[in-house]
This record gives sequence, structure tokens and C-alpha cells, in this order.
Amino acid sequence: MKHISTLLILLMMSLMAISQNNHDYFPTHQLTTVGAYYYPEHWDESQWDRDLKKMAEMGFEFTHFAEFAWAQLEPEEGVYDFGWLDRAIALAAKYDLKVILCTSTATPPVWLVRKHPDILITNEDGTRYDHGSRQHASFSNEYYRTYSMKMIAELAKRYGQDDRVIGWQLDNEPHSTVDYGDDAQKRFRAWLKEKYNSIDALNHAWGTNFWSGTYSDFNQINLPKHRQWGMNLYQRLDHSRFCDQETATFLDEQARTLRQYISPRQWITTNFIPMYDARFIGADKELDFISYTRYMVYGEDKGIGDKGYRVGEYTRIAMANDYFRPLSPLYGVMELQPGQVNWGTVNSQPLPGAVRLWLWHVFAGGSRFTCTYRFRAPIYGFEQYHSGIVGTDGVTPTVGGTEYQQFISEIGQLREHTALQQVPTAYLNRKTAILYDPDNSVAIEQNKQTILWDTEQHVLKYYRALKSFGAPVDFIRATTDFAEYPVIIVPAYQQMSLALIRKLSEYAEKGGNLIISCRTGHQNELGHLWEARHAEPIYKLIGSEIAFYDLPQSFDPGTVEMDGKSYAWSSWGDILQPFEGTESWASYQGDFYAGKSAVTFNRLNEGSVTYVGADSQKGGLELAVLKKVYDRLGIPVENYPPGILVEFRDGFGIAMNYGDSPYTMELPENSEILIGESLIPTAGVLVWKIN
Ligand code: GAL
Repeated sequence: MKHISTLLILLMMSLMAISQNNHDYFPTHQLTTVGAYYYPEHWDESQWDRDLKKMAEMGFEFTHFAEFAWAQLEPEEGVYDFGWLDRAIALAAKYDLKVILCTSTATPPVWLVRKHPDILITNEDGTRYDHGSRQHASFSNEYYRTYSMKMIAELAKRYGQDDRVIGWQLDNEPHSTVDYGDDAQKRFRAWLKEKYNSIDALNHAWGTNFWSGTYSDFNQINLPKHRQWGMNLYQRLDHSRFCDQETATFLDEQARTLRQYISPRQWITTNFIPMYDARFIGADKELDFISYTRYMVYGEDKGIGDKGYRVGEYTRIAMANDYFRPLSPLYGVMELQPGQVNWGTVNSQPLPGAVRLWLWHVFAGGSRFTCTYRFRAPIYGFEQYHSGIVGTDGVTPTVGGTEYQQFISEIGQLREHTALQQVPTAYLNRKTAILYDPDNSVAIEQNKQTILWDTEQHVLKYYRALKSFGAPVDFIRATTDFAEYPVIIVPAYQQMSLALIRKLSEYAEKGGNLIISCRTGHQNELGHLWEARHAEPIYKLIGSEIAFYDLPQSFDPGTVEMDGKSYAWSSWGDILQPFEGTESWASYQGDFYAGKSAVTFNRLNEGSVTYVGADSQKGGLELAVLKKVYDRLGIPVENYPPGILVEFRDGFGIAMNYGDSPYTMELPENSEILIGESLIPTAGVLVWKIN
């Protein structure tokens, strides 16, 4: 009896250990781990050993296989060939490289496409994609969904219990497939039925009394033609929600299929492009965590100064970190640029040091791993001219490759400082949330009122100000518990339920501080304007009425004056009429509403609500308002110039310079520099801890 209970206790203890391990995919003491994509199928097998050995020698700790390899894994229907992958995994293990496997649903083999051409995406104009590229199959095609699961199940049976495999990445950079095929049509109708239950509810939500749009049956509803002028806004909005949902459920189906066979030690993720209007990011229910991909020099972003394009835009990684971490506290970066890419408009060399800067930036946000795309530079195929960790000869490290090596060895140094260091209270006290819902961005984009409006840029004006304050930022959703944030910014949150308005009011009444910007709360959760005065349900909260809004022409920008300074604006301006007791902080100048209020500040019991009615051209107004609010609240902030980012992670202070001149970081006396110097050059990094 005694024996049995001892055994039981031991069993329970080992079960507990397993379940704890499940959440310890990336042990905290290793801080982060770095890997590289490798495509065995692209290279002669005689080179695999050499390549994987080199990868390990350079310090990489994992590799990534089989992403686009469906044709090699299942060369004929139902005939699987895992021999090559077995050998590649064995070689990775020989050099202590852990393996991430991929489900390769981004590239169906030609036999599948030819036998079932309806799996190909049908465009709005009726034309169809064809075999020869990738991401041409539709997530809304029933056969594609079902057949993909067969292949995934075979992979999972083969490698699901293999300890050399640490995890799975689903598909590749999943996005919405907008498909006009028959299955998509059927699934859209079913989705609408599920959502609205009755056709009357749909008619109400879509406002179909307008222009004789009324439906009497779900089967009358087609996929909306987005290019047809005047097409019902809500039908289009629902269609884009549906497409996003198709992506999320396809990923979930993949994860459920894998889970039938894989060990709980293996995790499941996917690699999203950070797109701030994509509702499928974080909408999955089955993934263990999510990760993102990032490319910084591709010809579009100017960065800071004449050569800034070689370093990249400083908020690109910052915002991706702050967007993904709240959605998935354990997150990683699945692809990070190693050097030049091939697909940009101008594929410049990154500035020497920039690749290492990005690696540190990803780390600073809390990421648990980084994988680079890719180890070897391809010599053929669509991505010819793309850089790698080694160049086209397959052996010589590129500049980016040596920077990865440097970062990996620097992380090795940090791993020596295992005890968690202190994070300065001043940093924590500045913690700010941005309340954000990608659905608003899509809705606004459909019906902007002025082409001068740009939602992402609007949010970035606040975000940049916060980063100059050295504030840690979390992008949060309406369902988040607001209480842990002393300050929440609510930028252009157009569709708002009464329940959310109540939640925000309660938050402020209990001592929270809101900064709400123009375009917020115009519409109810259906996207209808209120049958009331413009945005009236938020008047009490903001302590002001919105008399009207104005949208001037680009050649006639308006001006807002605050504390003796002028700020030009041209995209959106709410003309405010503060209630008694509400302070007016800024006023419009130079138009028929000169002297009227543009920014108000309203104390609500313990908390406050600041309303910023204008969207300034360069973000100066937003910065000045935020500064004034934080001063009022007695929250000390920094004043970092654009391009200087400072974060704390695991107690390490990390300062990064995306600017075009050196920056001197003032550190407290009890700090110890671990990497770099307090004078941080362009693309430089400083890491310290506080003793
Ligand atoms: C990414 C993609 C990779 C690869 C890479 C090239 O967007 O996920 O598969 O194509 O670009 O830079």
C-alpha cells in the first residue's frame, strides 16, 4: 500500500513536471535563442552536413525545415517521402541544432492543383491563380482544408514524438485569402447565418433599406464585389471579417490535427506579418503562442537622416513587439532580415551594425527566440539575390551573418548574469496602453471621409511620443483588464459599444487616465452613426460636446495653438465645446471656427480624460498634449530624440540608436555597462544592468 502511494506521488510529480515543462518551451535562463531557416531540398545532399555544422559553429541553436516542401514530402497523392527529412533532422541533431518543422500548406504540389483546380483562389474578376508561386490555394476551399489535414497528420505521426523537433510553424505568413470560389460563397453564407441567426438581423445590421438592398434569404447573398462602386459597407466589412476568420480557423484546424499525434513538449505557432488591420492575428484559439516576421530595409522606409533607409524605421520592430506581446506573452520572431532582400522596391545594403541592432531590438521587447530567414543565400528561384547568413558560395558568412554571430555570443555573455536584475520604477510607472481594434482600421479605411486620413500614422503619432518618453507600451483590446495601466490612449476608436463607453468611464472614475483622440465613438458596434448628436454617447466621458468636425483641403491646412505653439493639421479636426469645469488646452486658428477648442482636459473623480480633437500633420500636438498630461499626473518621463529607444527586459537596460548621430545615454551611478558604451553610435546598442 505504502509502495503504491509512493508510486502515485512520484507519478503525480512527474506529471506536474511535464505540465510545467509545457510552459517552459524557452527556459528563462537562456534569455533568448537564435536559429536559421534551412531548406535541405534546395541543396545537394552532400552539402547538408557542412552547412548544418557551420550553422552550429556560428552559434545558432535551432534550425527550421520543410516550410515549402509539400512536393518533396508527398511527391504523389498519398505517397509520402520522409527519408530526406529524416536525414536532415539527424544531421541537425548531430550538431545539437533543435528543429522547427513547418506544415507547408503555403505551397500545394502540382498534382493536387491539377486534380482539384478549385483549390486555387478565384479573384473578384473570375480569373484564377495558378501553380508556380505560393499562397495560391484558398483557405475557404473545403477540399484544400481537408486534404491539408491528411498531409499534416502524416507529418505529425512521423515527427510528433521526436525530441529533436521542438515545435511547429503553421503555413507561412498566413493572411486572408479573398476567394470568389463556390466554397467561399457557401461558407460566407453559413458564417453570416451563424452570426446573425435571422435575415432580419442581417438586414438591420447592413442597413439594407438603403438603396433597395433588402434580402429575404441568406442564399441570396453573394460575396461582395469590393470593386463595384457603392457596394454595401457592412457587407464588405463582414466579408473581410469572414476572410480573416477563415485564416484563424484554418490555423486552428491544423493545430488540432497536429495535437492528435504530437507530444506536449512540442509547441505550435505561426509567423504573422505584423499587419495592424488583420483581425486573424491573435484570433486563433489553439496555438501555443504567435510569432512575427520583420524586414526593415526594403526600399520604402526613409528612416532618420539621409542614410536612415539603411537602418530602417525605428518603430517597426518596437510596435510589432508591443502589439504581439500583449496578445501572446510568450512570443518570438520567426523571420528577421539577415541582409539585402530581393523583393523590395530598392534592395539596399543595410548599414553595417543594423542587423545586430534589429536583433537587440527584438530581444528588448521580450521575444523568446529569433530565427533568421535564411541560412544560405538562394542561387535560383524567386528569391535569387536574397541575402543569407552565408553567401551564394554556401560557406562565407555575410556581414549580417557575422552580426548574428556577434549577437549570439553577446547573449551568451548575458546568460552569465542569471539573477534577474531590477527594473527602474520610473520605467514601470510610465507604462501606457493603447486601446486598439484592427476592425476599426478596416472600417475607417472603407469610409475615410478624407484621403488625408491614415489610421496607422495617426496611432504612430501617439506611439512615437510614448517611445520618446521611454514608456513601456502595450497594445490592448476592449476585453483587457484596464486597471493595470495608469494611462490608456484611445486613438480613433471609431466603433464603440455603450458597454465599452461605460467600461472606459468606470476606469477613469476609479483613477485611470484616458487620452482619447478624434474619430472615437462616432459609431455603435454595428458601425452605424448614433441616432443622436455626433458622437454624443462619449460627451459625458470627455466632458465636452463635439459641435462638428472639419476636414480641410491639403492646400489649406488648419492650425491648432497650444501653450504658445502652433501645430498644422489637415486630416481631421473635431471642434469642441467643453462643459463647465472642463479645461480647454488648445484652440483652432485661422478659419471660421477660430478660437474654438481643439483639446480638452476633464477630471473625473480620481482620474482624467483628455480629448484631442485634431490629428496634427507631424505629431507635435500629440507629443505636447501627452507631455502636459503626464506632467499633470506627476509621472516623470524621458525626452529621447526620435530614433532612440530604451527598454528593460529581464532587468537588462537596452538602448538602441536608429538616429543619424551618436547619442549619449546618461546612466544612473549604480549601473554596470555590459555591452557597448554610453556614447551610442548610429545602429549601436548599449546594454547595462543596475547593481
Ligand atoms: C517573407 C516570407 C519568407 C520569404 C521572405 C523573403 O515575407 O515569409 O518565406 O519569402 O519573405 O524575404
